[in-house]
Amino acid sequence: MELYTYEELKKFVDHCGRCSLAQGRNRAVMGKGNLHSSVLFIAEGPGRNEDRDGVPFTGRSGEVLDQLLQKVGMRREDIYLTNIVKCHPPGNRDPLPQEQEACMPYLKYETLLLRPKLIVCLGRIAAQRIIRPDYRIMREHGTFICRKNVWLTSVYHPSAILRDESKLPEAEADFRKIKDKLGELE
Ligand code: URA
Repeated sequence: MELYTYEELKKFVDHCGRCSLAQGRNRAVMGKGNLHSSVLFIAEGPGRNEDRDGVPFTGRSGEVLDQLLQKVGMRREDIYLTNIVKCHPPGNRDPLPQEQEACMPYLKYETLLLRPKLIVCLGRIAAQRIIRPDYRIMREHGTFICRKNVWLTSVYHPSAILRDESKLPEAEADFRKIKDKLGELE
């Protein structure tokens, strides 16, 4: 399989027309972060702020993500962060299965580029796409499985924490586990 550089992939994403989300977008949002990181965070899709800025998690949920990382001594620069779909779904709806499918090649190439030891799914949509279609985020967040030598886990999506702050302590505990797992794997 051919590998692409980050810049090549970003160019494909920026000009992508593989699904109808392209028509409504302002900017496509390629993943961003440390290409040498052993951890890949995957969320569902860009929100309105990200659609404007062309960068993942620039809005309020980005602040929550940064707080959670900071709590365990990590920074955005230590991770690579991307989304299942690279274009903002109108009205912030869940990305449709066919939109997710159309965007999967980009995520595959990002994964090949990064070769992560741990993949963290931010929220249900990512967990159901990456871990298991019947994944139950409320029940299973913070648990780890190993598949093809890559560890997989999930945490609540930062916007779910913004909607319900009582989820914060569990999210902090999950980020602590992520940090510990990375310590084991390094
Ligand atoms: N929510 C997401 O799922 N992804 C982003 O990039 C921003 C908000």
